[in-house]
Amino acid sequence: MRVIFLGPPGAGKGTQAAKLAAHLGVPRISTGDMLREAIANGTPLGRQVEPLMERGKLVPDDVLIALVGERVREDDCAHGFILDGFPRTVAQAESLASMGLGEVSAWSVFQIEVPREELLRRLSGRRWCPRCQATYHVTSRPPRQEGVCDLDGTSLIQREDDKETVVARRLSDYDQQTAPLVTYYRERANVRRVDGNRSMDAVLEDLKTAVEVPA
Ligand code: AP5
Repeated sequence: MRVIFLGPPGAGKGTQAAKLAAHLGVPRISTGDMLREAIANGTPLGRQVEPLMERGKLVPDDVLIALVGERVREDDCAHGFILDGFPRTVAQAESLASMGLGEVSAWSVFQIEVPREELLRRLSGRRWCPRCQATYHVTSRPPRQEGVCDLDGTSLIQREDDKETVVARRLSDYDQQTAPLVTYYRERANVRRVDGNRSMDAVLEDLKTAVEVPA
């Protein structure tokens, strides 16, 4: 089972990808999480991407293609995976298609749709655990104790790129560079549109049903 999530920042890709991955028993490959981990560990990759991510800019295609190309070849991906945050440009999609992973027409491609004002509400209220990368929302998904991660007790923070001015840039980059991917995949696969402006559980139920139906 191979799954791609398309959708703007704040659409709920990470939230749903984590739940669906647990349901299917396949790994979730979140490029955002991989890059944030590299920054936290101070690796050369982390030092390269930190100034870009803080400003909400996309990381160059070649960096992402190498990162994902390596990850999908790991043993735990043999029976499938869920891509969250990749591909993000047509160049990334073309590289993915040439990684020898089979025809994308057999994959599940989901396009999560959420109105812009709800995206802004979600991103401004998102809180994040810098240790385990768990994601919360101050009202939609609050932790048991305010400001503290349920899983490891770390103090929650706001992502640098969730600050208002950076969010504007990310949404605009999405419109220009990532939205065209929907057309790219519509020409090659069965892209299923999902109304993401509902409860997390309602969205998940739709996704679980959809993955059972052959693309
Ligand atoms: P990344 O981490 O991938 O960010 P993103 O795509 O902008 O997506 P987000 O994490 O902001 O949103 P999401 O859709 O996952 O929403 P979430 O589930 O968290 O990338 C970050 C950066 O890394 C990029 O800007 C770029 O610099 C770099 N990068 C990564 N991949 C790259 C690539 N391929 N190429 C180039 N650069 C790349 O939900 C958001 C909030 O809403 C949460 O608080 C959540 O609790 C809440 N929520 C979720 N669902 C619901 C619901 N149904 N109802 C109410 N609240 C909800």
